[in-house]
Amino acid sequence: MVPNRVLSGMRPTGAMHLGHYHGALKNWVRLQHEHECFFFVADWHALTTHYEERDVMGRYVYEMVVDWIAAGLDPARCTIFLQSRLPEHAELFTLLAMGTPLGWLERVPTYKDQIDKLKGRDLATYGFLGYPLLQAADILIYKATYVPVGEDQSSHVELTREVARRFNNLYGRSRDFDARVAAALAKLAKDDQRYFEKQRKAFGETGADEALAKAEGVLRKAAASVSGWTADDTELLAGHFKGSGQSILAEPQALHTEVLRLPGTDGTKMSKSYGNAILMREAPAELTKKLRAMATDPARVRRTDPGTPEKCPVWQLHKVYSAEATRDWVVKGCTTAGIGCLECKQPVIDAMLAEQQPWRERAQPYLDQPQRLRDIVDDGCARARVVAQETMRDVRDAMGLNYT
Ligand code: TRP
Ligand code: SF4
Repeated sequence: MVPNRVLSGMRPTGAMHLGHYHGALKNWVRLQHEHECFFFVADWHALTTHYEERDVMGRYVYEMVVDWIAAGLDPARCTIFLQSRLPEHAELFTLLAMGTPLGWLERVPTYKDQIDKLKGRDLATYGFLGYPLLQAADILIYKATYVPVGEDQSSHVELTREVARRFNNLYGRSRDFDARVAAALAKLAKDDQRYFEKQRKAFGETGADEALAKAEGVLRKAAASVSGWTADDTELLAGHFKGSGQSILAEPQALHTEVLRLPGTDGTKMSKSYGNAILMREAPAELTKKLRAMATDPARVRRTDPGTPEKCPVWQLHKVYSAEATRDWVVKGCTTAGIGCLECKQPVIDAMLAEQQPWRERAQPYLDQPQRLRDIVDDGCARARVVAQETMRDVRDAMGLNYT
């Protein structure tokens, strides 16, 4: 049995901002202490929407990896690698593509959403439609148990599960599976055979637990009373019942953590493309300047106007950065116009500067010697390759591609 394995990826977008940290990286750092973890730079994924931007990719990759390490990812505890260095992902993607119904991809909700959102780009491409399947290959090739992603990606993990199930159904049976099932069925009394097959049909159509329980009853009875019945027969018929064969690809689970939507300086969601982001390693003077200029409750036009914290993006930051006593001070001061907005922002500024200090220190050696980052990624790619190649051997075998 494979231990619990965590896998996640991020498109290379350069220096990370606080939204990345609190929305994903912080969680990755925690997970590396609990499970075997693989984290990768999804550079091919970036190309599914930005296929013409060949100048930025290389720079963005390492700018991002520095911040992964600054955040606390430890290359001794987790495997950090680069998707495009592992052509095995492309091989699995190709093989899975053969049997994946087009409708499954067309129905992924992010497909139409993104086409609407990224109107300026021509996304009527094969790569863009297929990208959730590429993501499925990324996940399945490591037989990942858990996939930490934002809610927006849950449909991709769901697709991954369906793809794995279909693969196991199509290829997870040995060639004589049907004959062995027939032989096991023949050992049952005629009535039990009919009853078992009837429940199997019901289960296939409705997935009803009741049908499963009835079928299990038949198998238990057979184990107790049919002479020559073996544990193998029970397992064969259980597999036959569920329509599954042997599991070659594992169905992963999405791991959604509490969603912290960090507002940017204009009050909308923090995002590099909106120009409202605060970087993880922002120059202290710049950080202070950005925070002091940050949007507040529009009702506080003058210092003497009271405000409502819930209508203020700075309050969202206090929820992440401030202890209860400070938060009480904010609520009281804001609603009574007892404090000014600059005064209110100062504890957030101080907390952010303190938070960023160790990030800066951890990043520095890699900024001084960029080769060290390359070494970490090289090493991670080598470790990932061992697992990916092993899965591909199983997959090729199962699909009948093991001839020479
Ligand atoms: N599609 C993800 C995103 O755009 C990135 C990604 C690619 C990913 N492959 C993955 C995430 C595998 C988790 C697992 O954010
Ligand atoms: Fe926002 Fe604080 Fe100003 Fe109130 S006092 S509006 S919470 S910045």
